[in-house]
Order: sequence, then C-alpha cells, then structure tokens
Amino acid sequence: MENFQFCIPTNILFGKGQIENLPQVMGDFGKNILLVYGGGSIKRIGLYDKVQKLLTDWNLYELSGVDPNPRLETVKQGIEICRKNSVDVILAVGGGSVIDCSKAIAAGFYYEGDTWEMIASHAPLKKALPIVTVLTIAATGSEADAGAVISNPDTKEKMALFDPAVFPKTSILDPEYTFTVPPKQTAAGSIDVLSHLMEQYFVPATTFMGDLLIEAVMKTVVKYAPIAMAEPDNYEARGQLMWGSTLADNATLCNGNRLAAFSCHSIEHELSAYYDVTHGVGLAIITPRWMEHVLSEKTAPRFAHFGKEVFHVHGKDDMESAKMAIDAVYKFFESLGVPMTFTEIGVGTEHFADMAKHAVQFGGLSHGWVPLNETDVITILEKCL
Ligand code: NZQ
Ligand code: ZN
Repeated sequence: MENFQFCIPTNILFGKGQIENLPQVMGDFGKNILLVYGGGSIKRIGLYDKVQKLLTDWNLYELSGVDPNPRLETVKQGIEICRKNSVDVILAVGGGSVIDCSKAIAAGFYYEGDTWEMIASHAPLKKALPIVTVLTIAATGSEADAGAVISNPDTKEKMALFDPAVFPKTSILDPEYTFTVPPKQTAAGSIDVLSHLMEQYFVPATTFMGDLLIEAVMKTVVKYAPIAMAEPDNYEARGQLMWGSTLADNATLCNGNRLAAFSCHSIEHELSAYYDVTHGVGLAIITPRWMEHVLSEKTAPRFAHFGKEVFHVHGKDDMESAKMAIDAVYKFFESLGVPMTFTEIGVGTEHFADMAKHAVQFGGLSHGWVPLNETDVITILEKCL
C-alpha cells in the first residue's frame, strides 16, 4: 500500500432543495459574485432564475456561453470581468466545462503572467479566488477535485491545470437538476465516470479495499446509466450517477494505489483538442481499443478480474476472460447509443502523428500501466477508425 495524502476540502451539499442554502454558502466570501454558466441549459431548467432570486443581496456579474471543452479566450474574458469589478467569489452553475473555466478564471485572477502559460506550465499557484459550484451534469468530478481542463484552439492544445488552490469551497449537488441532461450527454458523462475509475484501477499496484471501492462505483455506473437514459427523471438513478461521478475523480477511492498516467484520457484530450469532440464520446471510442492494444499475458488477469466483477463475464482462462471483458466494455458503451468509431464523428488520420506526439509528451504515457510510445498511440488511434 502506497503512502498518500487525503484532503478534499470541498463542502458537499447533496440532495433535493439544497439550493436554498446558497445565500448562506455565499455569505462568507464578499458581495461581488461572478456567475459563470454555459449555453443556456440553466435558464431552461429554472436554475438561473432561482439563483438570481436567492442572491438579490449580492452584486452579480455574469460570464455566459462557456462552451463544452472550455476555451482560453473565455477564461481571459472571465478574468477581465473579475478584475474590473473586484469580484470576491465565482459561482459556477453547470457542468465540468463551466466549473473548469471558473477554476482557471479563479487562478488567473491572481496570476501576473500569461494565462496559457499558467495552465500549461503546471506551475504551483499561489492563490485563487474562492469557487462555489452548482452541478448540473454527472460526469467529470470537477465539483470536488483540483483539476481544470482548458482548450487553446490556436495551438490545438487541451491542457489540465491541477492545483489544490482551485478546489471548490462548496458544491451543491441536486440530482433533480440533471433530469434534463440529454441522452447523449448522460451517456458521455457516465462513460467519463467509468473511465476515471478504470484509469485508477488499471495501474501498477492496487489494494484490496481500493479494488472493492472502485468496483462498487463501476457497478453503480453500469447499473444506473441505462436507467437514467430510459427514465431521465429517475431520482435514484440520477443521484447514484451524480455521487458516483464526484467520488470517481477525487482520489477518494484509489488511496493506497500506485497510480500511473491516465492513458485513455491523455489520448482523448488530444482528440478533443483537434476535433472538439465530447470528452465521454472520445473515451468510449478509445478505451476498448486501448484495452485490446495493451492486452498481454501480463495484463490479462487484471482485465479478467475486472470483467468478472463488473460485467459478470468469464471464460475458460484469463486470456479468454480478458477478451470477454473488453467486448463487454465495448457493448456497454454501444448500448448507451454513443458513436463507436472515429469515422462516425468525422475524425480522419490527418493529425494522428501530432496527436500521438503530444499525448506522449504531455500525457505522460511512458509512465502508464502499460507504457506507450508514439507508435503505440498511432496504432490505437488507427483501431478507432
Ligand atoms: O452549456 P449548457 O447549455 O449548460 O449545456 C451543457 C453542454 O452542452 C449540457 N448540460 C449540462 N447540464 C445540463 C445540460 N443540458 C441540459 N440539462 C442540464 N442539466 O451538457 C453539455 C456538456 O456540458 P459539459 O460541462 O461540457 O460536460 P462535462 O461535465 O462532461 O464537462 C466536460 C469537460 O470537462 C473536462 C472535459 O475534458 C471537458 O472539457 N474534464 C474535466 C475534468 C476535471 N476537471 O477534473 C476531468 C475530466 O476527465 C475531463 O477531462
Ligand atoms: Zn474524464
């Protein structure tokens, strides 16, 4: 069992009606709030009006239109609004993109140099504005983690800032706000959660307890994602997915594991950087092909164990069981209705060499569970076509 530090400083308010606590939550930070949101879903679900009503005693400034795969330009706009209006706290209402954008704004507010350099250099941050979130989609775990992924379309880069300074102070998680998440995004979010778990499970060393914890959340996703797709307002399903997404990406489950590069994520971030695809869709296409590529006598027992525990499949030996596990993952993603090939999402071979180079360089793929080089990544990408 490896040494670890465990500190998740985010206060979580989970469940129906928790939004009523927003004034109390915001009370600590000052009068000037930057409200950050996306393309309008929060208006359609009445959350925008609710926030306005609850925060009449505060000065609300707004940054709207944050795109999925949030962009550097939007981060810069947010920093400008915050500086101009002496913003005290950022309220992110939305999904991972809105929260990530808010985190980068919060850090950029105090950063004197170039904002992209701040994100890409991974230099430790001295300070960030406090962030409060109201989550509207179960996916990234950004509501209780220290990461923020930002795209720079000019350089075709998508990079992660990671620093404890950007942990949200409080996150409000009401599953009812996710009833309106469309099927494609419900599927993509669930796949992202499963992928976060797999990235922490297929690693050089794990613990007995860590395996059980991760398998529990994997099984939860496999059980409840199809239910949430079929019955969008099933509170239990939405609630289990929402809490699962939070637990999946903030190290709660994998403490004691010897972690490695998040290989599928590193490759997917290149895909989103070049083609602006939905993160979970990219992961759905890449993950089974990565599994096929790294399958060997050495990795088969682990895949076999995963298949048996999570998908209840097993064959006559580890190799056969591992192949059945890979097939089960593919079929599960396919059953959620997401595209399963690059061809379907308009991705060709034109950028494979650059994507592979960047994934290895920035994504730490030589330190994966199974180390990958550029040729490996190109082979995986070709399998995705
Ligand atoms: O923009 P709006 O109108 O709000 O619509 C959004 C968006 O189109 C919609 N949506 C969200 N809540 C909704 C809703 N539609 C109807 N009803 C609701 N209640 O869903 C779409 C996707 O939203 P987005 O925030 O982009 O999704 P997600 O939470 O999956 O975030 C994806 C981003 O997070 C990054 C990804 O790379 C991607 O950029 N990640 C962040 C991580 C982190 N911070 O730790 C880790 C992840 O691995 C990931 O890389
Ligand atoms: Zn992810």
